[in-house]
Amino acid sequence: MFERWFNRTLNRTWGFIEDRAGIPKWALRPQPAFTFKPSYWTGAFVATAFLYQVVSGLLLLFYYQPSVTPTFTSCGQAAGQLSSSPAAWCSTYYIINSVPMGSILVSTHLYGAYAMIFLMIIHFYRGYYLGAYKAPREFSWMVGTLLMLTTFGMGFTGYILPYTQISYNATQVGLVLALRLPSFGTLLGPFILADGTGQGLLSRMFAAHVVLLPLALGALLYAHIALFEAHGIAPPATSDPVQRRRFTEKEDKQGVPFWPHIFFYMTKWALLYLGLLFGIAALWPWQLPTYVGNLAATQSVTEPDWYFLWLFKLVDFQGVTPVIAIGVTNVLVVYVLVLPFLDRSKRTHPRDRPLFVFLGNSLMGFFILLTVWGGLTPGIGIPPDQVALRIAPIFAVNAAVVGWFYYRYQRGYRTRLEARQRALRLPGIYAKDGSRPAAGRPGGASLPTPSAAPAAREG
Ligand code: HEM
Repeated sequence: MFERWFNRTLNRTWGFIEDRAGIPKWALRPQPAFTFKPSYWTGAFVATAFLYQVVSGLLLLFYYQPSVTPTFTSCGQAAGQLSSSPAAWCSTYYIINSVPMGSILVSTHLYGAYAMIFLMIIHFYRGYYLGAYKAPREFSWMVGTLLMLTTFGMGFTGYILPYTQISYNATQVGLVLALRLPSFGTLLGPFILADGTGQGLLSRMFAAHVVLLPLALGALLYAHIALFEAHGIAPPATSDPVQRRRFTEKEDKQGVPFWPHIFFYMTKWALLYLGLLFGIAALWPWQLPTYVGNLAATQSVTEPDWYFLWLFKLVDFQGVTPVIAIGVTNVLVVYVLVLPFLDRSKRTHPRDRPLFVFLGNSLMGFFILLTVWGGLTPGIGIPPDQVALRIAPIFAVNAAVVGWFYYRYQRGYRTRLEARQRALRLPGIYAKDGSRPAAGRPGGASLPTPSAAPAAREG
């Protein structure tokens, strides 16, 4: 009796809220049922991580002071550092040690940034290998590339905010590189460096981190999701050029509505994400390194966060000047940006795109190698023979593996095709002289799509 009354009241209340708030109208488009696997929602995971960054960042703003002015408050004494420490560092110290749950707040904001970048890299590589950038999603990819740059910008500008010596040093190295950007560098210089003082730099980084870049990220994310709404989720990767744009009719009819299904599906993942993030932050809270200008500090290291380690190691290579390092970075960015126009083949399956798979694998190997190397030996110069000895195998082994798989795939494809032709007693689609049979031959319709066959031969 009570249960029935309770359920009815709950339904009515919820119906009222749903109707007046117009919730069904906000809903995003329905998705095919088979997409309910984490691999189809990598972008939504990044967006979830971004949302937590916004919330935790706003809470940090209540306490953080973007100032290098020395303070003689309890933060210095508590740290056993009676000499003055900059207010930016001191306020971070205060949040960690005196604000309730402050340590968790700072740690989850930092680890959340790592998680967002890591998830973004997964999202990027998933789209790369499965050809999600192909027509009609070229603009989604390009806006995604801008999102990636902006996200790295968030990481760069946030690193210096606690005003620790290590982050200050790394930011200086990063600035040397950023200011070498062709033409942009000279324009960026006065904007970033302000009056050349520590305070000028901190204020600019703070403004970029809490206002400019989040606004840009929000706007780009809006465009990214609007494009996603326009084109829908990319169908599974395929070797069939005709199928690449659409789902089967059955799949199309099985659309699962956004509200409440997708919403709660994502809520489940978001809660799991938050649980993990808070758990890790509680077990391994971040330790605040020493502040800028601490004369008592024994040594000063220069090390960026893990996602920029590869670039720092690149500068350690003997002969690689900042101009070359920033040149390499630019080439990589342009490659990613215009990728949809470089890879023109109509098939999305990785087995049909050996060159791009090779490039993707090699770049991944290159980044992992330099990141680990940078972490193990930060700032130590590397002679060219050592560089060649470590990098060349990545490209060589990769070329051999991708080439071997591609050769096997092509051979298997031809064998299957010939077996099918023999079974159908049809003339070969590949005659000995390389010519193709005329269209309209009886039974021709049951062969693989004509456009797929010659294309598979071209590779
Ligand atoms: C802040 C970073 C990013 C966020 C928050 C984000 C968010 C999203 C979301 C929510 C989707 C809808 C489908 C899904 O959940 O996977 C999506 C799709 C997509 N994103 Fe991103 N994205 C980001 C960065 C990138 C980057 C760096 C790229 C590539 C350069 C990219 C390329 C794409 C493409 C091609 C799609 C369509 C994929 C499909 O239809 O399966 N995104 N993104």
